[in-house]
Amino acid sequence: MARKKIVAGNWKMNTLPAEGVELAKSVVAGRGEVCECVNFIVCPPFTHLSQVVEAVKGSDIAVGAQDCATEAKGAYTGEIAAQMIAALGCKYVILGHSERRQYYGETSETLNKKMAQAYANGLTPIYCVGENLEEREAGNHFAVCKAQIEEVVFNLTEEQFANLVIAYEPVWAIGTGKTATAEQAQEIHAYIREVLRSKFGAAAEECPILYGGSCKPSNAAEIFAKEDVDGGLIGGAALVAGDFLAIGKGF
Ligand code: 13P
Repeated sequence: MARKKIVAGNWKMNTLPAEGVELAKSVVAGRGEVCECVNFIVCPPFTHLSQVVEAVKGSDIAVGAQDCATEAKGAYTGEIAAQMIAALGCKYVILGHSERRQYYGETSETLNKKMAQAYANGLTPIYCVGENLEEREAGNHFAVCKAQIEEVVFNLTEEQFANLVIAYEPVWAIGTGKTATAEQAQEIHAYIREVLRSKFGAAAEECPILYGGSCKPSNAAEIFAKEDVDGGLIGGAALVAGDFLAIGKGF
């Protein structure tokens, strides 16, 4: 089984354009130290997507956006269409990040539209799922992730599903320094894959499922060693090129 190994950096609302370009260039410069088998993706803010695409040109590092609009174009002040993101040379788009669900009212309904826009424009969605602390403590994490998958991913065609990355990010581990244990990650990744298998059959074996939440050089190897963990979606540690690359060495 050779599932794609992915280390994706979600820069969130960090870096000014010049800093982002420098960070991207440092990742390109150090990339050679990491196995070619690792697919690196960087997801800067919209404002410097274009400059970062330019900065990684000639390397195998891909660029993604952190969100896209529900609509194709038109009178939607402040929104960024998937078509615009694709036109810049981006290949990926993060959708359904918990921060967007939590602070910006993202729902399965809006995410279905965003997923459709992403696919219509040739972007690969990195679809995020994950429970909050209360849900984990109540033992509802399986049900929460299942619903987030069923309500959105189950609406995809087989062809679309073949071009999907999933990121499991427990909200209680994001930016908290508290990481899920490798066992906790494996348990829920395997469960997510089982849910995917119930709908898409054997194609579920090919779907990369990334872990996100305080992933850093010191814990990446242990987490990535688990059978159903295919890499990471990295927040804070993706802002330091050396740390981001060192996470890639975790494979
Ligand atoms: P941290 O790595 O900063 O915990 O963030 C994880 C995340 O939310 C990536 O999308």
